[in-house]
Amino acid sequence: MSNSNRRQFLKNTGGLALGLLGVGLTGGAISCAKSSSAETTGSSPTSSTTIAVANMPTPTILPWPYQKLDPAGVADRAYTLYNSSGCMMGAFESMVGALRDKIGAPYTSFPTAMMRYGSVGVAGWGTLCGALNGAAALSYLVMDTTRANQIINELFYWYGATSLPDYTPANPKITNLPASVANSQLCHESITNWCLKSGFKTDSAQRSERCARLTASVVRQTVDLLNQQAAGTFKAAYKMPDAVSSCLSCHGSGHALSDVHITNQTSCLSCHPGLDGSHWTTTTK
Ligand code: HEC
Ligand code: HEC
Repeated sequence: MSNSNRRQFLKNTGGLALGLLGVGLTGGAISCAKSSSAETTGSSPTSSTTIAVANMPTPTILPWPYQKLDPAGVADRAYTLYNSSGCMMGAFESMVGALRDKIGAPYTSFPTAMMRYGSVGVAGWGTLCGALNGAAALSYLVMDTTRANQIINELFYWYGATSLPDYTPANPKITNLPASVANSQLCHESITNWCLKSGFKTDSAQRSERCARLTASVVRQTVDLLNQQAAGTFKAAYKMPDAVSSCLSCHGSGHALSDVHITNQTSCLSCHPGLDGSHWTTTTK
């Protein structure tokens, strides 16, 4: 779909919600929502970004203020919250709660309990990992979209490629908890790959402990990235794996086939196994 077709499509479908989803996927390339100047200039993370929606009260002017947090302390908070509130709220509330303690308003007004929706990949649907969902939402609350997207890219690559969880609580109820590489950002793949590797079932105490610790790992990493952004020392460490960029050089937006609406990914082969470098010559399509 060309940009103008897409705009028309969004207009026809009254697509604010679609537009917001699209911004997440394309790093803000879809121009249905008025983009901030910060998005294009990458200005200071404390500059205010006014999203053009009529009659929004003052606390909805983004980003909200951020102050350096202690990654390990907020991770402990997330680990504890997981048991009462689930992965997404555990991740989100641990960081909002720490900012609420430090800064007060506007954080006192955010109904963080809404983030329970993200549990088990959104109400049990096994899609985006709730800890990542909470971290991405928080990033958009406290950073302009450019900086938030940088954090999300870094975090999502790290999550897909790292043996997790890498957090151990002060008084572990379970010892020798196995870790695994998710190779994906999806709850389903992340958890099932861990179950296959560890031998524990999804309804085991070990699986629950794994997700509690994973939530803490994600929060620690996120706070570290937020602190770097706030201090102006952020440097992207990950780049898209060559295996993925080569796929997108034909299938990605603006290329010959343009049939894949993805701009970042850990692995295409996790869902399309066995495709070698010659499938485009052997395919019968
Ligand atoms: C040189 C260009 C090119 C590259 C690079 C490329 N593809 Fe393709 N791909 C094609 C063509 C051409 C087709 C067949 C036409 C179609 O389905 O639109 C195809 C078809 C496919 C299909 C559907 C048919 C099938 O065989 O299952 C999938 C899935 C796919 N590619 C995934 C990938 C992935 C994953 C990568 C990276 C590992 C990749 N492609 C790299 C050109 C390419
Ligand atoms: C989470 C799983 C998942 C990931 C990751 C993923 N895909 Fe797919 N993809 C699918 C599914 C499901 C379909 C629907 C058709 C199918 O089953 O092949 C699909 C369809 C496609 C098609 C069209 C297939 C056809 O039959 O014509 C292409 C091309 C494709 N994907 C390429 C990619 C590329 C390139 C990447 C990496 C940038 C990627 N996919 C990552 C799940 C995935």
